[in-house]
Amino acid sequence: MHDKVDVKLGNRSYSIHIGTDLLKSAGDFILPLLRRKKVAIITDSNIAALHLNDLKQSLVSYDIDISVLTLPPGERTKSWEYIEKTVEWLLAEHIERDDVIIAFGGGVIGDLVGFAASILRRGVRFVQIPTSLLAQVDSSVGGKTGINSLNGKNLIGAFNQPQMVLIDINLLDTLSARDFLAGYGEVMKYGLLGDCDFFEWLEDNALDMAKGNTEKRIYAVKRSCEMKADIVSQDEQEKGQRALLNLGHTFCHALETATGLSDRLLHGEGVGIGCALAFETSMRLGLCPQETPSRVRAHLTKMGMKVSLSDIPGNLPNSEELIKLMKQDKKAVDGKIAFIMAKEIGNAFILPDIDLDIVKNVLNDALI
Ligand SMILES: NC(=O)c1ccc[n+]([C@@H]2O[C@H](COP(=O)([O-])OP(=O)(O)OC[C@H]3O[C@@H](n4cnc5c(N)ncnc54)[C@H](O)[C@@H]3O)[C@@H](O)[C@H]2O)c1
Ligand SMILES: [Zn+2]
Repeated sequence: MHDKVDVKLGNRSYSIHIGTDLLKSAGDFILPLLRRKKVAIITDSNIAALHLNDLKQSLVSYDIDISVLTLPPGERTKSWEYIEKTVEWLLAEHIERDDVIIAFGGGVIGDLVGFAASILRRGVRFVQIPTSLLAQVDSSVGGKTGINSLNGKNLIGAFNQPQMVLIDINLLDTLSARDFLAGYGEVMKYGLLGDCDFFEWLEDNALDMAKGNTEKRIYAVKRSCEMKADIVSQDEQEKGQRALLNLGHTFCHALETATGLSDRLLHGEGVGIGCALAFETSMRLGLCPQETPSRVRAHLTKMGMKVSLSDIPGNLPNSEELIKLMKQDKKAVDGKIAFIMAKEIGNAFILPDIDLDIVKNVLNDALI
């Protein structure tokens, strides 16, 4: 028994399968996609040490021939260097147009492999087996793939939908507490942007989830995937509403660039801080009630997450420098940055232009 969420995109539609122990039946899911019994698996060394054997065993039991490339873990792997290594390796392994590539890992592996699949022989199919909470609720769904540039996060990439997403909730058991909470930043984001009831549920249940409650983890992952699938189905290429998924991300991407994509700040931690800053900015613009930003901050505090800029270790650039980094945002048009603001918890909207002096004040206060 497992849950299924469909991403409806015409001939690019696919299913997200969510359940426990799905890795051990990966072969059942993947075999029907294969035109010959051969797959390439790309993973990172942390995941390889913990879970690769289960995946291999399941595929081998169907006589599927496997090649594995293991990359170093961490955000810096999303780079030209590793995209080149990956694509050259896939070619050396004779992965052909009709084969399937498996992205087995967190958001770093998923983004890198999805992009590699889009440029290899002008496009090879791929499957996402996300292993981190962040990848299960966000990055493996929706087809945004890519790598980082020296100029900023995720600036090089392509839209490329997977053939299938296979989510095994048990994989989260080996995730570090810090990575779990970083992924939780994106879970919380869904409640904040579009579902107040879900946010309330999280206020009551997210601590249990963090402690390991499997039922609650399944519920939260499924609800997050449903929300993402729904938004992506309506606006695959982010011409409009998909931008809501970037709640907190303009702040987050600037902070990630400012901290050199290091482990001073994980992506999902930046999303949590970014959401708090987005609600604070919304309040100062008179868009949302006075008390809403503190409710968001209270939840981050309760979860033991980073809440403000002062929680990031080391020095940060000043507010003007941070705003400069925000202008590198992919969504900037004529140097103007669209911000995702909120009228209330569960009601976010796109503000195409913003008074940057207010953003600067919010940042100055948060830097203290
Ligand atoms: N494409 C999208 O739509 C999208 C959306 C959100 C985030 N992202 C991207 O995702 C990336 C962050 O993803 P992430 O947080 O998964 O990072 P990650 O891939 O670096 O994984 C985090 C850490 O957890 C380890 N790990 C993963 N699964 C594990 C498991 N089951 N057990 C033990 N350790 C495990 C990894 O080795 C790594 O050290 C960022 O690059 C971000 O830009 C993309
Ligand atoms: Zn994100």
